[in-house]
Amino acid sequence: VGTSVIQVTATDADDANYGNSAKVVYSILQGQPYFSVDPESGIIKTALPDMSRENREQYQVVIQAKDMGGQMGGLSGTTTVNITLTDVNNNPPRFPQSTYQFNSPESAPLGTHLGRIKANDPDLGENAEVEYRITDGDGADMFDVITDQDTQEGIITVKQNLDFEHKMLYTLRVDASNTHPDPRFSHLGPFKDTAVVKISVEDIDEPPVFSKISYLIEVDEDVKEGSIIGQVTAYDPDARNNLIKYSVDRHTDMDRIFSINSENGSIFTLKPLDRESSPWHNITVTATEINNPKQTSHIPVFIRILDINDHAPEFAMYYETFVCENAKPGQLIQTVSVMDKDDPPRGHKFFFEQVPEFPLNPNFTIIDNKDNTAGIMTRKDGYSRNKMSTYLLPILIFDNDYPIQSSTGTLTIRVCACDNRGNMQSCTAEALILSAGLSTGALIAILLCVLILLILVVLFAALKRQRKKEPLIISKDDVRDNIVTYNDEGGGEEDTQAFDIGTLRNPEAREDSKLRRDVMPETIFQIRRTVPLWENIDVQDFIHRRLKENDADPSAPPYDSLATYAYEGNDSIAESLSSLESLTADCNQDYEYLSDWGPRFKKLADMYGGDDSDKD
Ligand SMILES: *[C@@H]1O[C@H](CO)[C@@H](O)[C@H](O)[C@H]1NC(C)=O
Ligand SMILES: *[C@@H]1O[C@H](CO)[C@@H](O)[C@H](O)[C@H]1NC(C)=O
Ligand SMILES: *[C@@H]1O[C@H](CO)[C@@H](O)[C@H](O)[C@H]1NC(C)=O
Repeated sequence: VGTSVIQVTATDADDANYGNSAKVVYSILQGQPYFSVDPESGIIKTALPDMSRENREQYQVVIQAKDMGGQMGGLSGTTTVNITLTDVNNNPPRFPQSTYQFNSPESAPLGTHLGRIKANDPDLGENAEVEYRITDGDGADMFDVITDQDTQEGIITVKQNLDFEHKMLYTLRVDASNTHPDPRFSHLGPFKDTAVVKISVEDIDEPPVFSKISYLIEVDEDVKEGSIIGQVTAYDPDARNNLIKYSVDRHTDMDRIFSINSENGSIFTLKPLDRESSPWHNITVTATEINNPKQTSHIPVFIRILDINDHAPEFAMYYETFVCENAKPGQLIQTVSVMDKDDPPRGHKFFFEQVPEFPLNPNFTIIDNKDNTAGIMTRKDGYSRNKMSTYLLPILIFDNDYPIQSSTGTLTIRVCACDNRGNMQSCTAEALILSAGLSTGALIAILLCVLILLILVVLFAALKRQRKKEPLIISKDDVRDNIVTYNDEGGGEEDTQAFDIGTLRNPEAREDSKLRRDVMPETIFQIRRTVPLWENIDVQDFIHRRLKENDADPSAPPYDSLATYAYEGNDSIAESLSSLESLTADCNQDYEYLSDWGPRFKKLADMYGGDDSDKD
């Protein structure tokens, strides 16, 4: 009360020195009882204690200024002042209800929002900001509350996995408090409010639960078929506690080595085990609720096969060695090492001995080096290829695991000639080939030689066949072939003048005809054309002349039908035989195409040209 808000001032134009006519006094006409005005200074002050913005925010205050010292008869003026109350944080947040109730399924994932609570604060802005906190309750560890900054609500969330079978109902005490409390109002009591939140957990049908998150079973590899090697157990976590049945996931045990008792979960073998082929069998076991087959769980079962000494040690490789003819006694000729498929936990330990069934070997000594290797040494001198080319030395190898396993390895030792430094120079012929072997280069060379030989043989055979084909076919069956190649239409077999079928049957004559064909009529033409002879000459003369010319021409072939009969002549009684007449009239024509007609002209001539009277 009494806090000044604003000062108002009025002026009076009258003379202030004269009486009270300019003496102004302020009074409040409107705005009481909230505000008062100082009559002298015009300062407006608060007048009411515990003014509440939440109740009323806006005030209109009317102030009057009156001269004459406020006396009756003075003149007055008024002004209006609008006053707004600003907010202070004088209100704590308040829950509208003291208890809230929420539900959550037991399977709710962490962070699930279960519900919202809100404490109201009538203040404005940051004075109305609220934060929520769980202060107490048996669910304080299981749940959390976060503040939604936009709505100033508290959100209850799941903090830990719930289990209906473990606890069905939780209670929380949640505080709501202002983030910006005003210490001036701390006398009004704690600036917070508390509500009780009850959360009930709902039951969900859950799959079976195994007693472990995975199982490791160790079993000796010599375990008998049908033996129980381990057990898994699962139970239904639900209140109903359904019965469980077990099965092996067949995809993880393709060979059906294992099986499980569906009632009590005992795992047993169906087949013999072998650590050397598969040291681990990692299978999956499924547990299913009998009354509710949809509820299933899977668990990995790692089955480790433990080693049993069931393999004998053997030479690590095939050993073949030699001894020099000039070797001295006590020379080391070979060191042998062995391997064993077993995997004893303390590592391998091997021993080497002479085979006991044989008498003491007078030729070689076996030295056990005590480091799982053995050295073979000469025992005498004077090894001779001629006397004995190869020695076979049996060596007994055994391990020290239980049960002891042993084997006999045989070392092949050849006798060879060596130089002074002990380098092998030659063994027996047999040994040489076997030990030296054939280098790949030599093999390729040999193969190449064989290949070249083959090619040569094939080429030779082909050449021979070609040469055989060269002579003309003499067989009578092939005569037809030659008729076809003969470029003459002919008149059939009766047409003996066209060609003599007898010639075809006579191979020698055919040789001649073949020669004829070699020369193309074209060349004949060229020669003839140089001498144009056929104008106004009697056909008979023309033919005779042409015949003579051809007889005298050494280069002309005897196949002269074109030259001889290309001229029809003007005086033929048979008139024009063809359009050729018009051609002969025009001597400028190019007769080159006639070369194609050569054989036909010969035929025409045979029929008509030689004898005018033979009109038919
Ligand atoms: C499970 O049942 C089989 C067959 O009835 C039995 O041989 C085995 O001993 C049982 N396993 C356990 C762990 O009781
Ligand atoms: C089986 O599981 C073991 C242990 O996790 C692992 O060392 C082994 O490699 C697995 N074997 C196979 C075949 O998956
Ligand atoms: C030892 O060598 C001799 C020949 O030098 C041979 O007759 C004899 O059989 C060999 N003994 C053994 C056990 O190999």
